[in-house]
Amino acid sequence: MNQSIFIGIDVGTSSTKVIAVSPEGRLLSTAINSMSMVVRRPGWSEQSPEDWWEGVCTGIKAVIAEIGSPEVLGVGLSGQMHSLVALDVSDQVIRPSILWNDVRTSRESEYVREVVGEQTLRNTVGNPALEGFTVTKLLWLKNNEPDNFDRISTVLLAKDYVRYRLTGEKFVEPSDASGTLLFDVFKIQWSEKVCDLLQINKNVLPSIVESGEIVGGITPQAAKETGLSRGVPVVAGGADNACAATGAGATAAGDLLLTVGTSGAVIAPTSTPIVDPEMRIHLMRHCIPNTWYLMGVILSAGAALEWWRRSSGCRNFEELVAEAMGMDPGAGGVTFLPYLTGERTPHADANARGVFYGMHNQTSRGHMTRAVMEGVAFALRESVDLMDALDVGCVDAIAVGGGAKSMGWLQILSDALNLPLRTVGSGEGAPLGAAMLAASGVGYFQSPKIAGENWLHNELNIYPDHLISEQYDAAYMRYKKMYFALRETFVDNSD
Ligand code: XUL
Repeated sequence: MNQSIFIGIDVGTSSTKVIAVSPEGRLLSTAINSMSMVVRRPGWSEQSPEDWWEGVCTGIKAVIAEIGSPEVLGVGLSGQMHSLVALDVSDQVIRPSILWNDVRTSRESEYVREVVGEQTLRNTVGNPALEGFTVTKLLWLKNNEPDNFDRISTVLLAKDYVRYRLTGEKFVEPSDASGTLLFDVFKIQWSEKVCDLLQINKNVLPSIVESGEIVGGITPQAAKETGLSRGVPVVAGGADNACAATGAGATAAGDLLLTVGTSGAVIAPTSTPIVDPEMRIHLMRHCIPNTWYLMGVILSAGAALEWWRRSSGCRNFEELVAEAMGMDPGAGGVTFLPYLTGERTPHADANARGVFYGMHNQTSRGHMTRAVMEGVAFALRESVDLMDALDVGCVDAIAVGGGAKSMGWLQILSDALNLPLRTVGSGEGAPLGAAMLAASGVGYFQSPKIAGENWLHNELNIYPDHLISEQYDAAYMRYKKMYFALRETFVDNSD
């Protein structure tokens, strides 16, 4: 009998990833196709949707070949948030996608702030007007490429475009719509008010379906290009962060996810929409029914340690981290601010930059490495603190991402946050969450949460050392003060 599988696809920024999971939750195959970003000018970042499609087709073919004629029960997708795909009236891509990390849109962000106003943003889309959000990219096209703007017939997000190529159907779902700044996260519908204020034609915005809903089947053309059979059901899927949370078991209020990847994130699901009065953390609809999540994003987590490894001339991480773990907590008084490419939460400051502070003539590379690892932990703690202030409490957190593979970094995180941490097996993150949405969407499980209960198992438990946590409290206070002490010196130096 042929092996049954669910396919989870992640349309990421550095790669497209396709995984095949058995109905029991065994990871049977993974195919990763790397992609690069096109940076035509400093601060710009683009990709061709056709490259996403090719990466996904190659990946699906590879997992099918590895397993050998599996029976595919369902396909789910996750993808980079915010990135704008503009289609013309014949559903052709008008121009390369302007990605989430493209910051050319400062002027447009300012405009949204002025025209929509803080209060309406808070009460409708639940998020501040930052460069990352899709609508600023749409307005940039209007201002800078009016011919392209006038040709727009449909706006999609990254995974929605790939799903359109698989099924021929154009839909958006709430978790990704939350990153457009045009979506009312309270009413779970496009915001007429924001569209009207920004003069965005609502007809370009596709219908919204639930993340776990089957939106269509594989078309004959997609069957040819991917090797999937015609009619295999495809579910809507979710934003990468929502799917990463789902894929790690952070699906309900009381769960907390810490991601220590290239960037870092803190995600707390909630059963009601809770908005930070100052909008320092994002409010998004989850890909789980009746659930939202608060999210803090730090732009350099693993990226900060990688930068330091390169700059300090060390060849491998193990050596670097071992040196750091030989140092006492507090890094000999050295503090590091990880704002190498600006910072999102809590400062929303594109001009902020990295800082080492407090070195003396006995400071070693080990101290500085430890300071980098502690600085990232403190940056994540700022998001956790904001959530605590909104009464989104938790008793422990799930840690995922490359950083969660280091026992040393996990201990630093647990101590610096004074929080028990656990890691989960089959840590595939976003594509696993997408596969869970597929498995529940086709009715194999009652819900993605139950899929997670069946597919995930706890791996490691890490507990804070309360004495070290107390020492970290003092270092954290120093860390927090430093941004404000230096803020005026952070100026736009991109030229
Ligand atoms: C979230 C965000 C990133 C992208 C990366 O707001 O900008 O996490 O989703 O793929």
